[in-house]
Amino acid sequence: MNLTTLAAKAPKAELHLHIEGSFEPELMFAMAKRNDVKLPFASVEEVCAAYDFSNLQEFLDIYYQGMSVLLYEQDFYDLTWEYLTRAAKDNVIHTEIFFDPQGHTERGVKFADVVGGISRALADAKQQLGISSKLIMCFLRHLPEEDALATWGEAQEFLSLIDGVGLDSSELGHPPSKFKKVFALAKDAGLHLVAHAGEEGPPEYVWQALDELHIDRIDHGNRALEDQKLVEKLAGSGMCLTVCPLSNLKLCVVGDITEHPIRKMLQSGLLAMINSDDPSYFGGYVNDNYQAVIKGLGLSREEVETLLRNSFIGSFLDKSEKAVALDKLDQYLEKT
Ligand code: ADE
Ligand code: ZN
Repeated sequence: MNLTTLAAKAPKAELHLHIEGSFEPELMFAMAKRNDVKLPFASVEEVCAAYDFSNLQEFLDIYYQGMSVLLYEQDFYDLTWEYLTRAAKDNVIHTEIFFDPQGHTERGVKFADVVGGISRALADAKQQLGISSKLIMCFLRHLPEEDALATWGEAQEFLSLIDGVGLDSSELGHPPSKFKKVFALAKDAGLHLVAHAGEEGPPEYVWQALDELHIDRIDHGNRALEDQKLVEKLAGSGMCLTVCPLSNLKLCVVGDITEHPIRKMLQSGLLAMINSDDPSYFGGYVNDNYQAVIKGLGLSREEVETLLRNSFIGSFLDKSEKAVALDKLDQYLEKT
């Protein structure tokens, strides 16, 4: 069996997935029609042609337009369910999903409908697809911290459905330190903490995420490699980096997939693993991301096995759940 097939068939976890970034154009158009919302595109083909980005902001502008057709609880259910059935085909057995409540509540959508629809699909996926999950609420960093604090307030009655908080959207000019207060509140409430850092932003933003937000995991982290002291700190503490190769390619974080730093990350002792980020916008789900780096970098079997193992090690599953998942993976690898 070749390595791409080995990775594709392996049980795995996905830890960096924006549910609004899994919105396939076909579903987007169907929902626009049923909700009577106008999209700034005439057809699925026109949308796909617009998916040509030269940086994060160009992508985000289209991403926020796309999510504007999501209005009701059933919309959030359908969006999440479509991702989960797709993930099941990639043998994802555990997923940790981001959502951007501010992208919806600022349009008048009810917080309860956003979190309700997503959670209902996650519960059905556990029952019907055998996929376990965590739900991570992201704050939009281009907005003021006061807005994040208001969203944190709205989330209080739903905290039993929310496992963690994260930080996403436009990175440059919006350092993690801007969100110290709201992250401190989430930490006090016992939630897991993650932040996008070092995707486009400098190593200083990764330091701030560690030292000022006290995060448990870094999303992306590519630019951490520019700072040897930082690499040593991340490696020494076993900090997981949720890396997204096709996203990095589409957003021009790397010029070519053959230049992707995932091997360098592993060689530096970093706990890096593979994800799809916004699969419908970046041209592939998690197995496509494995395939891209396996082919692009000629990864070894050992490297692929490490990436698969790291997907569970870096998750927010508890110790015994991690052991069960890792055992399942090891059994698969032994017979393959
Ligand atoms: N929101 C959705 N995808 C994102 C990404 N790759 N970086 C920052 N914010 C995002
Ligand atoms: Zn992301």
